[in-house]
Amino acid sequence: MVLSTLQAKNEEAREYRFTDRDFRVIADLVHDKAGIALSDEKRNLVYGRLSKRLRHLQLESFRDYCALLEDDSSEEFQDFINALTTNHTKFFREAHHFIHMKDVFLPQLDAEAKGAGRSKFRIWSAACSSGEEPYSIALTLMAYLAALEKCDVRILATDLDSNILTKARNAEYSHSQYSDLPPKLLNRLSGKAVSVSGNKMKMGDDVRRLVTFRQLNLLSPWPMDGIFDAIMCRNVMIYFDDETKEKLVKRFDRQLKVGGYLYTGHAESLLGVLDNYKMVGRTVYEKME
Ligand SMILES: C[S@@+](CC[C@H](N)C(=O)[O-])C[C@H]1O[C@@H](n2cnc3c(N)ncnc32)[C@H](O)[C@@H]1O
Repeated sequence: MVLSTLQAKNEEAREYRFTDRDFRVIADLVHDKAGIALSDEKRNLVYGRLSKRLRHLQLESFRDYCALLEDDSSEEFQDFINALTTNHTKFFREAHHFIHMKDVFLPQLDAEAKGAGRSKFRIWSAACSSGEEPYSIALTLMAYLAALEKCDVRILATDLDSNILTKARNAEYSHSQYSDLPPKLLNRLSGKAVSVSGNKMKMGDDVRRLVTFRQLNLLSPWPMDGIFDAIMCRNVMIYFDDETKEKLVKRFDRQLKVGGYLYTGHAESLLGVLDNYKMVGRTVYEKME
């Protein structure tokens, strides 16, 4: 690889030596275990995130760190994966999905609860990060699903990153995130769902009860045998290569009921991947058969 003079100077100034081989070992491992594809442009990001691990472990080189990662059952391996995941998220991110839930998906569940007497509904937030996504779903259900009280409704929220799941289970956020919650929805919940004190905002017990968090690698076998009414998998497939993404989407298909919805991120179009789906909104796909 040809480095510009500036890049070469940057690399010389680094605390740890970080060779092409080190980067390749790390990129291959994170691709094999988590599906995350790291291009060469991510070298600085990888160095920045992992040098903290080297410092913490008091290691002298990336070569030593790579040797440690040869054992993928080691305690460090999970910290290594955690360090390389990108957890950026937001309450009601890509608001059109929650509008679709309110206007289309939830009225369908209400109709099924009333007409067919169905009482069990399941939604999966796959790659839920720190919980903003599944709690946004829970708040939408509380505000707009009339049958909620009478039915058994649950949201499964999964992620690979063990640290971020601890934060998600804790359900505590900064006060500034309160402004991400739609005022109309909060009005309907008449202040019951979320509490604000000092510089913190906390999800109430009724919101938390709807969500079950589990650690799950989307690439590994899945323990769930049930079928979901909707699956939300957003802003994680962008880190996967086409082959991994295609396999994953086919697995989602097997877990989704006919007539159910698959919500993906704004840059994760499924067009051309599954032909039994119809696009019914911006990155909202309905399973037709
Ligand atoms: C950018 S966040 C997206 C969060 C949320 N879905 C959203 O759209 O706001 C991506 C999440 O995917 C998780 N992730 C990455 N690779 C994964 C894998 N192989 N299995 C499960 N989760 C994974 C990361 O830990 C991270 O929390």
